[in-house]
Amino acid sequence: MEKDVGLYGSTLGKKALMAITGIILFFYLVGHMLGNLQIFLDPAQIDKYAHLLHASAAFLWSVRLVLLFCLGVHILAAFQVWWRSRTARPVKYKVFNPPDVDYAAKTMVWSGPIIAAFLVYHLLHLTVGSVHPDYVHLGAYNNVIAGFQQTPVAIAYIVALLLLAFHLYHGLWSLFQTMGWDHPKFGPWRRPLAVLLTVVIAAGFISVPVAVMTGVLQLVGG
Ligand code: HEM
Repeated sequence: MEKDVGLYGSTLGKKALMAITGIILFFYLVGHMLGNLQIFLDPAQIDKYAHLLHASAAFLWSVRLVLLFCLGVHILAAFQVWWRSRTARPVKYKVFNPPDVDYAAKTMVWSGPIIAAFLVYHLLHLTVGSVHPDYVHLGAYNNVIAGFQQTPVAIAYIVALLLLAFHLYHGLWSLFQTMGWDHPKFGPWRRPLAVLLTVVIAAGFISVPVAVMTGVLQLVGG
């Protein structure tokens, strides 16, 4: 007799959790990207934004805890789904090997941990400042520009952001399916929508290190 594993115990339940936490993380990314783009408006603008973020410790820590929780659930469920698919079928399918699914799954398995490593570095770089050459508390403009004036750092960010784009694209694509948004009417729009959202977010983030490397953004008075 089959054991009743409940919704969370099932692969579908875990995928739904990955989808829901993924959507929340995705909205955080959109907000963060829009916040970052203020750097093109005026140096004082992004510093104001940083001050606003830190104005209420209760607000800041609530957002951080929600993000941390979502990230933890997202990673745990992803690991469990990956582990289950590895251990469930010791002998590989001979015929059933849909290239799209296979490629997406493989991409997620290596891009996920690299993005997690990037996030740790990013927090040490621009939030804690311990791996930054000239960190100023709440001086977001100075911190971003001085940080990206180190070319290897800017390149590492661009590479990580391209990986994030891969991850987002495949995540969005599979999330449309997990959430049941693969109705025939919506079907033809799934891929273009995933591509569009990914390109907008990746371009928004990548524009900042590129603008510093090309001298479009410079230190105040520099
Ligand atoms: C070019 C790309 C990026 C730039 C320029 C950038 C810039 C920044 C800056 C300046 C801060 C510090 C804000 C402050 O405390 O004053 C920050 C924090 C943060 N960034 Fe980014 N970021 C980038 C990409 C990303 C990406 C791709 C992610 C997620 C995968 C991310 C996640 C975070 C998180 C979680 C924080 C901490 C927010 C907090 O203090 O709670 N960032 N970022």
